[in-house]
Order: sequence, then C-alpha cells, then structure tokens
Amino acid sequence: MKHYAIDFDQLKDLGKARVVVDQKPLLIVHLEDGIYAINDRCPHLGASLVKGTIEDHTVTCKSHKAKIDLKTGEIIDRAHIAFIKMPTKQAKTYACKVENGKVYVEV
Ligand code: FES
Repeated sequence: MKHYAIDFDQLKDLGKARVVVDQKPLLIVHLEDGIYAINDRCPHLGASLVKGTIEDHTVTCKSHKAKIDLKTGEIIDRAHIAFIKMPTKQAKTYACKVENGKVYVEV
C-alpha cells in the first residue's frame, strides 16, 4: 500500500531522512539516480541506520559496520568487531515514487 513519507524538496535538502510510515521506521535516501527506502533498523542488532555512512548505493551501520545495499537490502559486508564477522540478515527495502512533489513508499 502506498504511503506518504516526506516532501521531495525536504528530502533533497537533507539527502537522507528517518521517517515512520505505517508504524515502520524507514531510512529514505535521495541519490543522483533515485530515491531508496530501507528499514531503519539494522538487520544485525537493530541500530538506526540514519546515522550510518552513505556511499555508492550502500549504507554502513555505525554500530558494527554492516554494509547494506540500499537498492536490494543485500549485505555487502557483515557486521564485525575487529576481524570477527557476525551473522547479518538481509535488510528489507521498499519501492519509492515521487508524485506532485511528495515521496511515497510502498509498505
Ligand atoms: S547493529 Fe548495525 S552492524 Fe550491529
């Protein structure tokens, strides 16, 4: 079901934002080729991803550095402490579209 998430201009200014849609916390990111939405709870231990580092269509969680593909939710690099890698499930992503200056997410 389609839900309003944020005004496009606001997202463009911020680059990324945490929004709650249908009671789900989402990280929404504006990149040069589109808008991507991903569950804002890290699939490792649930840290918010909004403070993570965005780079090349990925977000890297601040807590234990899990690196997640923003388009697919695939884990590019598992959570780790020093050299010890920890199990990290795939993240859930959501389709986005812009209509009349507003960003909607399919949840
Ligand atoms: S909570 Fe995100 S990597 Fe551990």
